[in-house]
Amino acid sequence: MQSVISYKERGNYGDFKYRGNCSGYVIKDLIEHFYPKSKPKKFIEVFSGGGTGKDVAKELKINNSLHLDLNNGWDALVDEIPSGSDCVFSHPPYWDIIKYEQQRNNYSPNDLSNNMGYEEFIKKLDMVNEKIYHSLVNGGRHVILLGDVRKNGKYYSIIKDMKWFGDLESHIIKVQHNCMSDNKSYSNNSFIAIKHEHILVFKKNKIWLFNTKETNTVKENIMNLTKITWRDLIQATLEFLNNKASIEQIYNILKESKKAENNNFVREKIRQTLNNNSNFIKTGEVWILNIN
Ligand SMILES: C[S@@+](CC[C@H](N)C(=O)[O-])C[C@H]1O[C@@H](n2cnc3c(N)ncnc32)[C@H](O)[C@@H]1O
Repeated sequence: MQSVISYKERGNYGDFKYRGNCSGYVIKDLIEHFYPKSKPKKFIEVFSGGGTGKDVAKELKINNSLHLDLNNGWDALVDEIPSGSDCVFSHPPYWDIIKYEQQRNNYSPNDLSNNMGYEEFIKKLDMVNEKIYHSLVNGGRHVILLGDVRKNGKYYSIIKDMKWFGDLESHIIKVQHNCMSDNKSYSNNSFIAIKHEHILVFKKNKIWLFNTKETNTVKENIMNLTKITWRDLIQATLEFLNNKASIEQIYNILKESKKAENNNFVREKIRQTLNNNSNFIKTGEVWILNIN
């Protein structure tokens, strides 16, 4: 197995009409790669959807397997993950991109694909991933398949925003075929269609201690930075002032910056920076940005 995988066919596994299903070859190859000599002793599939994993387990003659989903009465947020698995495969909804309520014809308040804010979705996914991790036996793996999402022009990387439990053993890119977006044309030329998904393999390597990793977004203001250059501060100031400003106007803004705090010659520094950078040109008494 390599770090990029691509299956044009999904194989004869599970319900091919189940929306958002994955190819059975993904699960089959992962199991055969990570358990080459003996199959997992207890294989659990969380978010089993249309039965893809169940058919793979049958083909691989894994007798001890469980395939859990709201559609067979098991709720990942409420119910326990059966214990003692050495391999859990999970394929959660990609936020609310595909609504599984419609697929099931039945509303569940805990469906991870319900309409909800992104933070709430990530929090719920973290809860499930933590439960999965703790349910593993030492040496066990949680293999998770997830995609990125673009919504209202914003890009969301679920694998980066969710919390990680355990040690990352592999990150595999799965090329996506037959996407709903394939037939769409986009007016925005800089738009890059998402044609890949991620498989992360987390391993439990210790009984008591475990690593977690989480990212958080911090909004900062460049006015509070000391490591930024005067050139970049002046560029930002000119952009803010619609690309035309006198030294006095630039000074009146930048005198409030952190960088100006310990400098007794801020006006002179601004003049020197404007004069020494070809990015700035003077026309009459005003300076403009000259970025080509
Ligand atoms: C991306 S699909 C899985 C598709 C599956 N791998 C297949 O090949 O058919 C996600 C699944 O998560 C299930 N799901 C959503 N919220 C759930 C919850 N709280 N508990 C259990 N299953 C849930 C949905 O019913 C859906 O079947």
